[in-house]
Amino acid sequence: MRPADVPPPANVQVGLDDVMLWGVLPYVVLAVLILGSVWRYRYDQFGWTTRSSQLYESRLLRIASPLFHFGILAVIVGHFVGLVIPKTWMDDVGINEDRYHFFALSVGSIAGFATLVGIVLLIYRRRTTGPVFMATTRNDKVMYLFLLAAILAGLATTVFSVFDAGIVNYRDTVSPWFRSIFIFQPDITAMTAASLSFKIHTLWGLALFALWPFTRLVHAFTAPLQYLFRPYIVYRSRGKRPAPGSATPRGSWAPVGTPDRDRKGTPRT
Ligand code: HEM
Repeated sequence: MRPADVPPPANVQVGLDDVMLWGVLPYVVLAVLILGSVWRYRYDQFGWTTRSSQLYESRLLRIASPLFHFGILAVIVGHFVGLVIPKTWMDDVGINEDRYHFFALSVGSIAGFATLVGIVLLIYRRRTTGPVFMATTRNDKVMYLFLLAAILAGLATTVFSVFDAGIVNYRDTVSPWFRSIFIFQPDITAMTAASLSFKIHTLWGLALFALWPFTRLVHAFTAPLQYLFRPYIVYRSRGKRPAPGSATPRGSWAPVGTPDRDRKGTPRT
């Protein structure tokens, strides 16, 4: 039997801690996520933004941002397939356990690794580019910590499922539990039977979801998808200010009160 093919143990002991973690906590997190987002949207619409730092630095951002965002999009698609679509449905369309694991490991590892490299570069850029660091709040730092932890713990589950022969298949444990939350019948026993690495990753994921409405991550809810494919905004410097009284080159910005613009800023014809 390959790793990650081990069935969940038959006699799972469910304790009070399991009830709290897998039966109560998900609903607390969902409530915080939904109500927190509504509150933030109503009271802080001007703050509902990525707070882009592209103006300060764009060379590293140009590489790190697409790497992270395309990586995380692929990770989200992977989570949807692994957690939401039941194993039996996949079998019915000819994707058996072996095929599923081949795709999950190959595509999942590439996507997870791209996401990790992207976030590490984004954090490095924040720390080393003066103005970007200055624009980084304590809230951002906490958010980066939780985001990085969730990604690292996720990749750890992938590594363990290759090298640890005792790992229980998450499609028999984590996935049924995840689906059961949304029909308000949390399958606590299924999640209790999951391997420790999945439990740790899930808890980091839940923590991140609880923080979500109060951080810059809210921008993900309203991101226009074409944003990913649009060209970068080109910022041009104004160049040297023209000497007072001299004409500015055609098409460039002209300070008010020069031969090109009157005192109100209206171009002179
Ligand atoms: C309740 C929330 C979550 C659950 C139940 C969950 C579950 C899982 C499972 C079962 C895997 C293993 C996939 C495999 O090996 O094929 C995984 C992998 C992973 N997860 Fe999560 N996850 C959650 C939230 C998150 C969040 C919020 C992030 C990042 C922001 C994240 C990032 C990752 C990454 C990077 C991997 C490894 C690469 C991959 O398989 O795509 N997860 N997760």
